[in-house]
Amino acid sequence: MFSYRHGFHAGNHADVLKHFVLVQLIQYLNQKDTAYTYVDTHAGAGLYALDSGYATKNAEFETGIGPLWGKNDLPPALAEYINLIKEMNPSGKLRYYPGSPFCAEKILREQDRLRLFELHPSEIKVLSENFRKLEAHQAEQGKRPTVRGKRIIISDTDGFDSLKSLLPPPSRRALVLIDPPYEVKDDYRRVKSALDEAVKRFPSGTYAVWYPILQRMESRELPEKLKRVECKEWLNVSLSISGPAPDGFGLHSSGMFILNPPWTLVATLKEVMPYLVAVLGKDKQAKFEIQTGTPLTGQNPRFKKPGTAA
Ligand SMILES: C[S@@+](CC[C@H](N)C(=O)[O-])C[C@H]1O[C@@H](n2cnc3c(N)ncnc32)[C@H](O)[C@@H]1O
Repeated sequence: MFSYRHGFHAGNHADVLKHFVLVQLIQYLNQKDTAYTYVDTHAGAGLYALDSGYATKNAEFETGIGPLWGKNDLPPALAEYINLIKEMNPSGKLRYYPGSPFCAEKILREQDRLRLFELHPSEIKVLSENFRKLEAHQAEQGKRPTVRGKRIIISDTDGFDSLKSLLPPPSRRALVLIDPPYEVKDDYRRVKSALDEAVKRFPSGTYAVWYPILQRMESRELPEKLKRVECKEWLNVSLSISGPAPDGFGLHSSGMFILNPPWTLVATLKEVMPYLVAVLGKDKQAKFEIQTGTPLTGQNPRFKKPGTAA
């Protein structure tokens, strides 16, 4: 169960899609002063070295952040995400890649809350240590006082199970990222059931699910199942950097499925996704897709479409 280490994949094309979209979702929430809660049900280690350890094994970042680093024609929305990584690499050399908790921490404000879950005993140690170092660094610079305990809570409990305990959030604003390893089939089932439960408790939250696009049936079915979760509307964006490898191995495509997305996101994606395909694409099958819609069923009267039976 604990074989997955995100360090092997840090900064790859799937991380680029996930973290670029995440930054957009957070920037949108930042447009209003009211505090919100960011929940990361599968947090990982938080920060990854790209020049040592796991990341050097297959150098997957060469499929993602590598080719984007140093580009000077980035679409503005993509530049916001790249600039965040630049801040973590002040020497100008790409050495550190922020995982979702660090991307979020960088742009959440004083009043916002981070709730991070990580089950792997080694990863949670590294995650906690990374935040400890970040806070020490911030305190040295006279920035934020040490805030752990209220602003940031890191838990070693199951993220799927724990999500419901945080909903609805006190300020009635939240963004939830669900990013499991999908190494076990059950993760696909649990994503759907965690979301069904979450939207019952807090229908107006924004929920973002990263998923791999693989041959296995559970993977192909997941987006279709997510289209049935009760929400106002959904957005599904996918990025393929190539067609499938002849041996069927390797991740070439992934997607982000978002429930209750900001209305601005489609336009932003239309600007950025063609650029990502152009820079990261490896063959003629490289592509992106953007779909939007409303849930296929209408169980929740809160979201009944006009004209449908009560
Ligand atoms: C894909 S990684 C997360 C990457 C991170 N969200 C990012 O974007 O930087 C998935 C993580 O979930 C952890 N994990 C697996 N099952 C979990 C569960 N049920 N609850 C919490 N964490 C879990 C794994 O140990 C792994 O570190």
